[in-house]
Amino acid sequence: MEVRITGAVLLATAFLFISSCTPKPTVKVPAEFEVGQNYFHKVCASCHGADALGKQTKAPRLIDIEYLPANFSDEEIRQQIIEGSDKMPSQQNKISDAEIGEVIKYLRYSQVAAELVVEEDDPDDDEA
Ligand code: HEC
Repeated sequence: MEVRITGAVLLATAFLFISSCTPKPTVKVPAEFEVGQNYFHKVCASCHGADALGKQTKAPRLIDIEYLPANFSDEEIRQQIIEGSDKMPSQQNKISDAEIGEVIKYLRYSQVAAELVVEEDDPDDDEA
């Protein structure tokens, strides 16, 4: 009994500790994307959430159809990081050009890995 309570307290403490810090990545990515993942978690995850899955954090999830290359280019991501916006402060002083490239690579990989379903205009829809 006592052991169980200690375990629960430990778990709760660990949870509080973790949730008060930058969220940790939960997804294992291939080695070539780990550099970008690390930069993302250092610079972006405190706002955009672990694995760029935002939603319950202050910034949008980037693993989203809205941010696929067709809708939001690499250049636009780069510009957003460097210039920021009304709601997002510029991260220019926190990350180098080369590091931004790694972050974009990581984000693009994650978007593909997430298998986001893009709804396309299907000509068959008319028949339904
Ligand atoms: C201090 C919090 C914060 C940090 C750190 C941060 N962002 Fe953001 N980001 C935001 C917010 C808030 C928005 C929503 C901005 C808006 O709606 O104008 C946003 C929006 C974005 C967008 C979408 C812009 C759009 O027009 O839809 C991208 C892409 C983005 N961030 C990438 C990044 C990347 C990559 C990093 C790390 C290099 C980063 N952000 C770091 C808060 C942050």
